[in-house]
Amino acid sequence: MTPEHAPIRCHDSPESLDADVLEMFLDLAARSIDARGRFRVSLSGGSTPRRLYRSIAKADLDWQRIEWFWGDERNVPPDHGDSNFRMVREALLDPAGIAMSQCHPIAVRVDEPEIAAAQYDAELRRIWGREVDLPDWDLVLLGMGDDAHTASLFPHTTALGETERWFVANWVEKFSAYRYTLTPPAINSGREIWFLIAGADKRESLARVLGDEINPSLYPAQLIRPSQYFVTRDALADAT
Ligand code: 6PG
Repeated sequence: MTPEHAPIRCHDSPESLDADVLEMFLDLAARSIDARGRFRVSLSGGSTPRRLYRSIAKADLDWQRIEWFWGDERNVPPDHGDSNFRMVREALLDPAGIAMSQCHPIAVRVDEPEIAAAQYDAELRRIWGREVDLPDWDLVLLGMGDDAHTASLFPHTTALGETERWFVANWVEKFSAYRYTLTPPAINSGREIWFLIAGADKRESLARVLGDEINPSLYPAQLIRPSQYFVTRDALADAT
């Protein structure tokens, strides 16, 4: 186990994990808004974050000051069942009544993913301003797959090595499809970066990510420098 990995907040159940993340989310949002007048969040897809989004939708937040972004997306229309935008819209945006003016979804172009990714990259740079090197997200939420991918940074894919662009289209052979994703530098520039990892199916991949074998091509989550891991106990190998 790499001795310097980020703190791990371990929970006996997904519900306990969600409650912990929600409490810290609300505190971070208040502090970010106090400090900078805004709370810019990069959202993750997946089933683990979806539970959290449903809880956030019921919370008492300074909603006008929060801006919602997507850290990755599938190459499907926004009303498709696999769309991360649709998942967030159903779990959070609609229930909380969040105006689309607060939201920055990826404008997917199924037949021209490289163009769509370049347009999102340009939109992020416009929002942050030309003088900024990287986006200082107030919070980046991330899940992790059982193959140690995070966002849409999958093992052995081109996006793992991207050092200049903030956002790219990434061909994923195992799906024979493009995905859209923030790049490692544009994730690691976040002020807070939280992994939400639940379930015994993540045990092996999390052990690898935290282990002594440093191989980010195989374990892309190792490319990320998180500030916090939120995990369920069944996802954590012994003696971690
Ligand atoms: C996606 C996510 C992806 C997800 C992991 C974990 O678009 O699917 O961004 O990186 O976070 O696959 O997903 P679960 O939490 O559902 O296991």
